[in-house]
Amino acid sequence: MDSTVKAIKSLGVLCSGGDSPGMNAAVRSVVRTAIGLGIDVFGIYRGYSGLLEGNIQKLGLASVSNIIQRGGTILDTSRCLEFFTAEIRQEAAHILFRKHIDGLVVIGGNGSFAGAMDLHREHGIPVIGIPGTIDNDISGTEYTIGFNTAVQTAIDAVDKIRDTASAHARTFLVEVMGHKSSSIALQVGVCTGAEHVVLSNQAVDYQKIVNDIRKGAERGKTSSIIIVAEGEKAGLSYQIKNVLMNQYDLGVHVCVLGHIQRGGSPTALDRLIASKMGHAAVHALCQGHQAHVTALNKGELEMVPLDQCLEGKSETNGPQLELINALAI
Ligand code: F6P
Repeated sequence: MDSTVKAIKSLGVLCSGGDSPGMNAAVRSVVRTAIGLGIDVFGIYRGYSGLLEGNIQKLGLASVSNIIQRGGTILDTSRCLEFFTAEIRQEAAHILFRKHIDGLVVIGGNGSFAGAMDLHREHGIPVIGIPGTIDNDISGTEYTIGFNTAVQTAIDAVDKIRDTASAHARTFLVEVMGHKSSSIALQVGVCTGAEHVVLSNQAVDYQKIVNDIRKGAERGKTSSIIIVAEGEKAGLSYQIKNVLMNQYDLGVHVCVLGHIQRGGSPTALDRLIASKMGHAAVHALCQGHQAHVTALNKGELEMVPLDQCLEGKSETNGPQLELINALAI
């Protein structure tokens, strides 16, 4: 460790932005690793909003018992728009100094990481980000905690919709979350044998949807599933339904899966990665990392500079989309 870097005696941990399954496993790992190293841990409740309110409590080993399997986050979370203001961040820094908190672990998405980056730049507070969002849309890491669970939840739902769609010979638009990212839509599309996927970064190709569905029906398919990436705002599927109905005379049903995808018990993969990332985050602070993210790339955990993880991930839709199209003939 660089001799100018202050040793970490106590750290704070918070969750910020949309919750994701596996956040609790990450919190547990941070708390247990820190205590194992003789470091005091403070839970900051309700993300940056709770930090500003001083909603901070010391955590013991037992405070994270029996949570590895639970969705949501025991620390609660929030989307704190105020944190984009420098004066507000100064208040937050003072609160951390007053509580003698030497470093911060932020579990969240790229908006939450942007706040952490500014807090570090402006006030020198060491910060480590743990990527936690179902969207899997953070640059600098191939994986974000919660993605696998959200995909599995959506798959379970689409499988059920497929049963009833087949029984009635219907076409369904099933809208999945992901904000500007199509990661969930593509993986769900491959794993449910969807006939078509509408991506968030491309115009809807209505003629192709209609052709795909009519071709399938002609060769005897009894149902069709179109996975829709929600894009900027949930509810896009209703607009698509109207166009298909009014301009192409194609009747479809809509099912928007919504927040069901954010809840539930995390899968083995999410528990495992969250446990590894929580452990790595505490060690990174002890080793003097100042502004880094516990990233997963090519199957390996690595520390990536935080400023490389502030953007949305550039989408590489190609291979998965080709697979969906190739298998949906
Ligand atoms: O970022 C996770 C996410 O679930 C997105 O997929 C979705 O667009 C958004 O959060 C919904 O946010 P909220 O629950 O705040 O409406």
